[in-house]
Amino acid sequence: MAKKIAVLTSGGDAPGMNAAIRAVVRKTIFDGHEAYGVRYGYRGLAEGDIFRMEAADVSNLSARGGTVLYTARYPEFANEEGQLKAIEQLKRHDIDGLVVIGGDGSYRGALALARHGFLTVGIPGTIDNDIPGTDFTLGFDTACNTAIDALDKLRDTAKSHMRTFIVEVMGRNAGDIALWSGIGCGADQIIIPEKDFNMDDVIAQIDHGRERGKMHTMIVLAEGVMPAHEFAEAMSQYGEYHIRAVVIGHIQRGGAPSAKDRLLATAFGHRAVEMIEEGKSGICMGIRDNKLIYTPIEEALNSKGTDSNFNEYLYNLNNETSVWS
Ligand code: ADP
Ligand code: F6P
Repeated sequence: MAKKIAVLTSGGDAPGMNAAIRAVVRKTIFDGHEAYGVRYGYRGLAEGDIFRMEAADVSNLSARGGTVLYTARYPEFANEEGQLKAIEQLKRHDIDGLVVIGGDGSYRGALALARHGFLTVGIPGTIDNDIPGTDFTLGFDTACNTAIDALDKLRDTAKSHMRTFIVEVMGRNAGDIALWSGIGCGADQIIIPEKDFNMDDVIAQIDHGRERGKMHTMIVLAEGVMPAHEFAEAMSQYGEYHIRAVVIGHIQRGGAPSAKDRLLATAFGHRAVEMIEEGKSGICMGIRDNKLIYTPIEEALNSKGTDSNFNEYLYNLNNETSVWS
């Protein structure tokens, strides 16, 4: 029997969300069902902002950043009252299943709906790459590419002026963007929340480089450690390092998704529809060792911190390749 399958985006937007929406809509229609969009995340869901989507509505979406369904932060959804409003609207529109694209906060909302008996599947969409149950989240690859582009440009000027650049990248409490983009641009040091750092060591490494003729320094700082200007202030106590602090900011959230994010989004969206068709609920999509997987959302949320995507190998890789010895 034909089903009605809806999709929403929630939390911070991420490149690749649109490609996932497109895949959900197209696969739903391909399989003979009806596709629906929900605007403004859980707020729109509770308010019944639900509309029919046709295949043509998602034309050309793979290439576009942001989310055409808009996103919102709606704290009321943590309360049962907000969740019941959503269930009421889903029933009113005869929706059979919902795909939620978002981060771990959005997953908590999806889990709440599943616990109320509504067929709900999650897709990991956040640039932070901080959701357990997957090696990669949608938007992470694109955000790293954006950060690398900025870092490469900053290095040009750092080198010309023999300056020290402290570049703050996003990631909330995770250091993945810092680690990947830092390695990608050959940063001298990468400072992330998962690893303690010591300013004496940071300075010692810069001095060591200067003794060998390396007069500029690139430090990639994850926002979860401290703001770049604070780091700069702490460094400046040690002497004159010609410091400039730069915050790359929300540029990392926008732009056309990378090839990897487009492909991942399409595979996640396609598989999420299959999961709903199979009656699987309260689960989230992931990719592990290049294979599509799914995990109960509860298990994924409970493993946060233990199953972090942080990779010790990458941290050491940078330490052992960045020093001028
Ligand atoms: P992200 O999904 O990117 O982690 P947020 O943490 O802002 O972003 O969460 C997005 C939305 O998910 C929130 O605005 C809220 O509507 C919903 N949400 C967050 N936490 C919960 C919760 N504990 N229970 C139900 N819904 C939640
Ligand atoms: O979760 C994505 C993210 O961009 C984080 O990296 C960052 O800490 C946060 O969202 C910024 O949130 P806002 O857009 O509300 O400033």
